[in-house]
Amino acid sequence: MKIAIIGAGNLGLSIATGILHSGGATSMYLTRRHLDALKEFEAYENVTVTSDNRKAVSESDILIFAVQPLHFASILDSVQDLLNENHVLISTITGFSLSSIEAIVGSKRYVIRAMPNTAISVGRSMTCLCSNEAGKKRIELAEAIFHRMGHSMVIPESQMQAATVICASGIAFWMRLIRATTQGAIQLGFDAREAQELAMHTCRGAAELLISSGRHPEEEIDRVTTPMGCTIEGLNEMEHQGLSSSLIRGIVSSFDKISQIRKG
Ligand SMILES: NC(=O)c1ccc[n+]([C@@H]2O[C@H](COP(=O)([O-])OP(=O)(O)OC[C@H]3O[C@@H](n4cnc5c(N)ncnc54)[C@H](OP(=O)(O)O)[C@@H]3O)[C@@H](O)[C@H]2O)c1
Repeated sequence: MKIAIIGAGNLGLSIATGILHSGGATSMYLTRRHLDALKEFEAYENVTVTSDNRKAVSESDILIFAVQPLHFASILDSVQDLLNENHVLISTITGFSLSSIEAIVGSKRYVIRAMPNTAISVGRSMTCLCSNEAGKKRIELAEAIFHRMGHSMVIPESQMQAATVICASGIAFWMRLIRATTQGAIQLGFDAREAQELAMHTCRGAAELLISSGRHPEEEIDRVTTPMGCTIEGLNEMEHQGLSSSLIRGIVSSFDKISQIRKG
């Protein structure tokens, strides 16, 4: 696959790292205006670092756009005459709709929106995807790319904002839960480094258990809650203090905010 990442900043470089680690590209162009930050990528034989978006587009088939929203329309406009029937356009730009992209490149182009999260740099992103009508023919290709960097799910475009909250903001929510567990572990006598290790790996184990077993979280909870035991005592106290409720309310607040931002 010949891939170009247009806008190799935080997210673009995370995607580039994920693709390079999974051996998912025969050639890769990385573009941005200030190339200093891309020096380390010049060492890869199949990577070209450039400020020339037009060259990157004409030498690649899969174009992953990861620029800030205000730059996107003008960049698309500047390359749209180079697009042909082989190009697959994947936009990671938050809030930029399929119809706005089609308005620039036309509805015949394969257009896909992707909402990954920052865990893409370690091959563990939960990435949601949607496409325009033409793009349905290439959605499996996009799934295959993002599956190499974690997990992917195809959803309707109307759910992309909700997916942004659960998966992109979700990284911050889970980090805070890990930090809180770490603080609890320190209070119980572990040093800070040990406490974080215990919290991180227990969190990973819980997720892996559900992913590999396909079981409901409550079934796994039943396995570790002895009647009158310490786990149910702790869990119930957390619920009295509003654990599930505060998480759900936080998710809904984030969603309300992202919906306001979109309208504004
Ligand atoms: N970070 C996340 O977790 C996340 C998750 C999902 C979606 N997104 C979306 O991903 C996009 C990028 O986010 P980010 O955090 O990676 O932003 P970022 O770090 O600012 O990266 C954007 C990059 O675009 C480059 N750029 C600007 N103008 C350019 C041009 N004309 N040609 C080529 N490159 C150009 C900038 O570099 P120069 O200034 O050197 O050109 C910059 O490195 C945003 O639209 C955001 O909504 C981000």
